[in-house]
Amino acid sequence: MLALISKELEKIKTEMLVIPVCNDTDIHKHPGISALIGKATDLKEFTGRKDEELILYKPTEADVSRVMLVGLGKSSDTSPETLRVLAGRVVNKCIAKNLIEVIFVVPFHKKLNMEIAPVLEGLMEGACLGNHRFYAYKKEKTHRPLQKIRFLVEPGVAKKFNKSAARIETICEGTILARNWVNTPSNDKKPMQFARAVVDRAKKENLKTTVLGQKELRQERFGAMLAVAAGSQNKPCLVVLEYHPKGAKDTIALVGKGVTFDSGGMNLKPSKSLHRMKVDMAGAAAVAATLFNVARLKPKLSVIGIIPLVENMLSGTAIRPGDIIKSYDGKTVEIGNTDAEGRLILIDAIAFAIKTYNPQTLIDIATLTGACVTALGRKIAGLFTFDDALAEKILLSGEKTRERCWRMPLPEDYKELLKSELADINNMPSTRAGAAITAALFLSEFVGNTRWAHIDIAGPASSSKENAYCAAGATGFGVRLLSDLIDSL
Ligand code: BES
Ligand code: ZN
Ligand code: ZN
Repeated sequence: MLALISKELEKIKTEMLVIPVCNDTDIHKHPGISALIGKATDLKEFTGRKDEELILYKPTEADVSRVMLVGLGKSSDTSPETLRVLAGRVVNKCIAKNLIEVIFVVPFHKKLNMEIAPVLEGLMEGACLGNHRFYAYKKEKTHRPLQKIRFLVEPGVAKKFNKSAARIETICEGTILARNWVNTPSNDKKPMQFARAVVDRAKKENLKTTVLGQKELRQERFGAMLAVAAGSQNKPCLVVLEYHPKGAKDTIALVGKGVTFDSGGMNLKPSKSLHRMKVDMAGAAAVAATLFNVARLKPKLSVIGIIPLVENMLSGTAIRPGDIIKSYDGKTVEIGNTDAEGRLILIDAIAFAIKTYNPQTLIDIATLTGACVTALGRKIAGLFTFDDALAEKILLSGEKTRERCWRMPLPEDYKELLKSELADINNMPSTRAGAAITAALFLSEFVGNTRWAHIDIAGPASSSKENAYCAAGATGFGVRLLSDLIDSL
């Protein structure tokens, strides 16, 4: 759907040619484009201020039905994110006009004081992600996504960056896939159902797949996972996706929380927060989609995706507060609260990942705590790790992809809040204060010496409001972050 093209202006045929314009300097190299900008600025209605917009209809002899000039503001304020926002907005406007394609004129990167790659990346990501709609459950699909989005560049650039355009498209497709899965209602993504969808797709991508069903989970004593699943009629499972390139030295394991619906269990959630809980498998979706990206982009290290899937329900067979269960690694856990279920499935998945694959690095990603949303809001994820170098890399990938993370502390002395009178540990801290931190500390008890990071995405996994390149609902947060990170390890 995304393509770089280089053509003479006179030969371009399109419904909409989009020209980004700054208000302090001409950011284009092509005299024809500058002339078009001149036509607009001559009208004194358009100066290139941020978010300004002007459409000229059939302004040249060429087969261009419309030229849209969009303001970027000051050239020095331009960044990959302002380009994403611009491209996402424009695509949404084109969709509203029922167009089927658009061409963006890519500004000359040196005039923006940027490298060429981030200019292309920003525009392409914003356009591709902004073009997504989740209409699976609508009879009438009112607005159709564009079929073709092209970017006009100089001839040398098209050739040199074709591969990176394909890469950006792959990564965005992963994000979109994750969004679709998270948006899917829980009645259509029960653990086994979701596992099947993941495995079917993984096979197409030539990943090695393994599914441990309820029977295997029992045999292997995944006690914490089974405890969470006990209240549901829908059986749990653990999906493992493996990518092993030839000659790989290092292994990274990615573990994603996959609670397909979190009712809270006996500690039932209040009505106002129940309906959101289909998002509680956003970590699982991010891990699965990242592995599909990996299968295509072929990094040099082995990547393992571990996806524990359960439904947290309440019934006569559900676990009770006060129950004590034995986790996969042998430690016993007192269930102080059945709504702190994410950490339970994660510790079994983490212990299994370490025992089976002995990875150099393990990262878990999870919609783990409401407290993290309170701390960092709906746009920034909480990052927890003991390893400064790993933190640095994750924070950097977060800035680059705009899937931002903020490092939180892991204070040793807070561990005492997780003490249990009867078991090795309690899944519920003795105070709600600092609950995102105690959740991470709980996980840290099961990672041994493995280099580990935990990313709490309870805030950014979904959004109640749309933005320039993401509709309201699931955001696909984590896919671009992890895909970028894997390249930097
Ligand atoms: N799935 C929730 C966390 C969550 C909150 C996800 C908001 C998405 C949006 C998690 O399982 C949970 O319920 N956590 C409890 C932990 C508490 C009982 C220690 C919480 O945050 O209240
Ligand atoms: Zn919960
Ligand atoms: Zn949960």
